[in-house]
Amino acid sequence: MSESLVLYEAHDEHTAILTINRPKALNALNPAVLEALDLLLTRCQQEGIRTIILTGAGPKAFVAGADISAMADLTATEAEFFARSGQAVLDRLASYPGVVIAAVNGFALGGGMELAMACDLIVASANARFGQPEVGLGVIPGFGGTQRLVRLVGVQRARELVFSARMIKAPEALQLGIALEVVEEGAAVTRALALAATIGGKGPVAVRLAKEAINSHLDGTLAEGLSAEARLFGRCFKTADQDEGMAAFLGKRAAVFING
Ligand code: CAA
Repeated sequence: MSESLVLYEAHDEHTAILTINRPKALNALNPAVLEALDLLLTRCQQEGIRTIILTGAGPKAFVAGADISAMADLTATEAEFFARSGQAVLDRLASYPGVVIAAVNGFALGGGMELAMACDLIVASANARFGQPEVGLGVIPGFGGTQRLVRLVGVQRARELVFSARMIKAPEALQLGIALEVVEEGAAVTRALALAATIGGKGPVAVRLAKEAINSHLDGTLAEGLSAEARLFGRCFKTADQDEGMAAFLGKRAAVFING
């Protein structure tokens, strides 16, 4: 397993920068990337890292989603498993015993937006674009989007964003509360490091417990919601519309759905 799919940089004793590193595929998440990220979260924990900054390699994308070429031919069972594995890694970020800041430097779509939303704070570059484009591929969000987006922006706005697959720019993400801050292009990691320094000056145990307390309002029904999401994500892969939606993306053409 190559760790170079996700780069690890120790910024200081307590702060690490993790960079999803598949820029040619706009950092799309395949099983190997998810595994590499999972391994690095273990390393961060073992090394006592208190703040993780998560970003994407290259100027164009944070993460443009789960890898469509890796998903296109999945069976329903395999797709449900893929959703559950992705959710598990994102859950590790959400419950990491320290602060995780997403520095979104471009596209954060589908699994990429879900990855950002699993972080505690999102700092967006001016060129950031957020969206849940899955229904355009004949599937639904599968890495927690149907659950975490609702919690972040409210149920009606989440419906609109998921049903329309609309891509939003950084100012709207700020207005909706998806992004905490918008900074100039190229400056997201720098700003995230400044936030990390501020938080790093506070009581580390208190910060950790405050995170746990804030997260506790998400627990309970979140697990049930995630389970339902993975099951329904898997069901999409029994449909011709999933075959068509993903084949159309990979063939660089518009999808023609048959409602089945
Ligand atoms: N999976 C696999 N490959 C991807 C990808 C993805 N999610 N996103 C981009 N790529 C690849 C492209 O196929 C392309 O590869 P080639 O150079 O080999 O052709 C390369 O990255 C560059 O992408 P584009 O040429 O498409 O770049 P662009 O600037 O014209 O468009 C974009 C950028 C709008 C982000 C476009 O790439 C795009 O729409 N990507 C797909 C976004 C998406 O639908 N994400 C959701 C995936 S489903 C999901 O995530 C399910 C879930 O919840 C678990």
